[in-house]
Amino acid sequence: MNTETMTQGNTDKIELNYGGREFSFPVVVGSEGEAGVDIAKLRSSTGLITLDPGYANSGSCRSAITFIDGDKGILRYRGYPIEELAMKSSFLEVAWLLMYGELPTKDQLATFTHEITRHTLLHEDFRRFFEAMPKAAHPMPVCASAVAALTTFYQDAAEAKDSRTSIVRLIAKMPTIASYAYKHSIGQPFMYPRNDRAYEANFLRMMFGTPCEEYEPDPVIAKALDLLLILHADHEQNCSTSTVRLVGSSKANLYASISAGISALWGHLHGGANQQVIEMLEQIETEGGSADHFIARAKDKNDTARLMGFGHRVYKSYDPRASILKKTCSDVLARTGVSSKLLEIGMRLEEIALHDEYFVQRRLYPNVDFYSGIIYKALGIPVNMFTVMFAMGRLPGWIAHWLELNADPDFKIGRPRQIYTGSPKRAYVPIASR
Ligand SMILES: CC(C)(COP(=O)(O)OP(=O)(O)OC[C@H]1O[C@@H](n2cnc3c(N)ncnc32)[C@H](O)[C@@H]1OP(=O)(O)O)[C@@H](O)C(=O)NCCC(=O)NCCS
Repeated sequence: MNTETMTQGNTDKIELNYGGREFSFPVVVGSEGEAGVDIAKLRSSTGLITLDPGYANSGSCRSAITFIDGDKGILRYRGYPIEELAMKSSFLEVAWLLMYGELPTKDQLATFTHEITRHTLLHEDFRRFFEAMPKAAHPMPVCASAVAALTTFYQDAAEAKDSRTSIVRLIAKMPTIASYAYKHSIGQPFMYPRNDRAYEANFLRMMFGTPCEEYEPDPVIAKALDLLLILHADHEQNCSTSTVRLVGSSKANLYASISAGISALWGHLHGGANQQVIEMLEQIETEGGSADHFIARAKDKNDTARLMGFGHRVYKSYDPRASILKKTCSDVLARTGVSSKLLEIGMRLEEIALHDEYFVQRRLYPNVDFYSGIIYKALGIPVNMFTVMFAMGRLPGWIAHWLELNADPDFKIGRPRQIYTGSPKRAYVPIASR
């Protein structure tokens, strides 16, 4: 095979010399100056494909939803800095922004909030779905299955065409689904949603209330939850969002696509990391609280321990969401009066890691999960529900990407290629001769 070289000829095309022939491919530039080479015609013109395990260098789509600059620690939804949205907005407003591209007007937000509030109830038959699950089940697969099962309750063709109703149903019912998964696991009765509560307060009541007495969520706690949901609402083409897009690209409906996203989020290298952060901090506490010892383990190549909540595929500086949460973390702990032992260990870990050559060289900084786990713990959210909280927050982002995908003039079913490394052609061997 001839040697192939790829050189950037100028700012608007890439030249490729392969097999004695020259090819050129256009450079596409995004609105923030991000440049990429458009290789849509690569295979048809050269016979080559690209090989990029983990897709670290591959753009799968054009998207106008979220901008991240991982080197500078920038995150913006539809152009608005996450810091401003965190301070001034609300989760439902951010959800609208992500899905429809602009901040809602007063009337739009009022109507949207009204619709969400009035779609929170689950079909009564759905209760049996939760009751059929083992009590020890992790709530993530329960939620993923429940969201997929929404298709069985709402399967009319009209809904498939008018995604607006599906969207409202999904955002409205997700807290109910999440709380039912939890209530079933602890053997308490399901709490019906109430229309006189705001989104987060309603969820907290369904989680922690019982029919025996009224439960009033602390507004500071409800606000902290609102903030966490905003910070998790989108993060461009991560594993779960790409999953939603890939499943959606087969024209699977919204519920089926989101259910796949929930499953993708469950893994501990993605949404499951905040659960692992708490487990790591608790383990360090049980073993005497030595952060230094754990740091040494995380650096040791012969030890499988990793500093959970540290490092990010995209952020190679401080995750801006972690900066926002660091402050909220102290506020919530002060308000709830929860023991801050875990936070103390977390702070110590962070301090060591930020000055340790191993972490500095690899540009490993705290990510959003480092603090979200500690806050959820202080809010009384059980550890195995942390990822469910992440899913609840990520919902509008997933929906926004599903909508964008379906409206894309370049829409194509997702179908990557591969470099085959298996056996060459060989003859079948009858079982008697093997
Ligand atoms: C998120 C994560 C998967 C990103 O992975 P990535 O960009 O593919 O980076 P890599 O796994 O290739 O790691 C690069 C180097 O840093 C090291 N590293 C990465 N994260 C580390 C961590 N949390 N603790 C210790 N070492 C870590 C790797 O061992 C590797 O070292 P090497 O170059 O000597 O082989 C990874 O940082 C990680 O596992 N973090 C902990 C889990 C977590 O918090 N996930 C939540 C993400 S929001």
